[in-house]
Amino acid sequence: MNITVIGTGFVGVVTAAVYASFGHQVIGLDIDEQKIASLKKAKVPFYEPGLEELLQQQLAANQLNFTTNYETAIKNAQLIMIAVGTPSAPDGQADLRFVFASIKSLAPHLKKDAIVAVKSTVPPGTLNQVETLIGQHTKVNFYTASLPEFLKEGSAVDDTLQPDRIVIGANDQHVFTVLETLHQPFKTSIVKIKPESAQMAKYAANAYLATRITFINQIADLCEKNGADVQDVVAAIGLDSRIGPHYWYPGFGYGGSCFPKDVKELAAYSRAIGESNNLFNKIDDLNEERIPKLMQAVENKVGGWSDKTVAVLGLSFKPNTDDLRESPATKVIPLLLNKGAKVKSFDPMASWQSFFQLKALEPNHTQEKNIPSAVKNADVIISLVEWPQITGFDFTRTKLNKKQWFIDARNQFQPAVLKQAKYHYQGLGRG
Ligand code: UGA
Repeated sequence: MNITVIGTGFVGVVTAAVYASFGHQVIGLDIDEQKIASLKKAKVPFYEPGLEELLQQQLAANQLNFTTNYETAIKNAQLIMIAVGTPSAPDGQADLRFVFASIKSLAPHLKKDAIVAVKSTVPPGTLNQVETLIGQHTKVNFYTASLPEFLKEGSAVDDTLQPDRIVIGANDQHVFTVLETLHQPFKTSIVKIKPESAQMAKYAANAYLATRITFINQIADLCEKNGADVQDVVAAIGLDSRIGPHYWYPGFGYGGSCFPKDVKELAAYSRAIGESNNLFNKIDDLNEERIPKLMQAVENKVGGWSDKTVAVLGLSFKPNTDDLRESPATKVIPLLLNKGAKVKSFDPMASWQSFFQLKALEPNHTQEKNIPSAVKNADVIISLVEWPQITGFDFTRTKLNKKQWFIDARNQFQPAVLKQAKYHYQGLGRG
């Protein structure tokens, strides 16, 4: 099949490479010339395990190509997937301007009977607007679909190759038949539903997972006060098959480019349709309040930040990515600096400097090349992200002969081992 993917951000590049690997002829399109020039050389501006190798293979096999030219990309395409960004507007709702701009640019070049499928996260009702807009710019027959994406950063290639499910939202049997046939080789469940249901399913999946994380974070806060250990609570309730042991790990709140944005969008969408008093507004507030609240508690424990040297381990929002969007470090480090601490950070992949496009770091913040130099002289060590390089490090080797706090923000360490080494250990919800 001739497939064109519009938007070469995270979802677009992974989608283009994976569908090419299933033997389709894929073109990735973006209006950013620089991005396209590097993608043609299999270079991506972010770290995602396995992606550059897959791009190299598919480019070499001529299954995949990149362009900035709409006519070249669209005129032979039987399926066009829209994977452009949908940032939040100031009122919290999804800003659909890039979706509509790409639709206006592609529509005049559409081949008869092409399917335009929206992968970008958009609110229910958007497909009707997309359909009207295409109709205003073409005379050929065309179809539309909603094809939401469920991949995770850090395992995006595997998630796309082996998805838990494919959700197809459409109003036309022809679209279901074509897209179902296309996805048969993925050997997974295919859910065929109305576009509104598919769009809602995307928001519901992310909001549910964000709710689950917020829930266990709140249980951890109670454990902190009553002497229970949240890890034991998770083990106990996780054996209930209705609940399960997964995706419950407490921490400094959910981050990344999706959950915070999607929960806010669902909250704003709810308000816009007259459902203000629902869960989603509250979940968003709780997540926003979490880091200031936890950091205040840590500050009280360690006796203030002024003149303290603090090692912050983990800058990305989770392991196996260099993405700092809404990462705990982006909130924790400025807070520490404002309160007079000296910060030494470390991350195996993410660069603070390049993310913020700074020529220099703050005078009181240095990003160190390894853990031993980050923790050298540290009064407080905060382990924020469960990178294996951090959780596998033997901190008993670097213990100094002075009072040192160890804040285990993801409950990844054995309290007894660190306490034995004379650290003042503080986990989360391990009362
Ligand atoms: C998330 C969803 O998991 C994907 O299914 C979805 O496609 C994607 O958003 C999206 O909408 O594009 P992602 O943001 O890559 O994927 O990351 P997750 O692994 O889901 O983690 C999100 C946040 O939750 C991270 O800050 C992580 O540290 C936190 N988290 C996760 C916890 O605090 N506890 C957990 O048990 C799991």
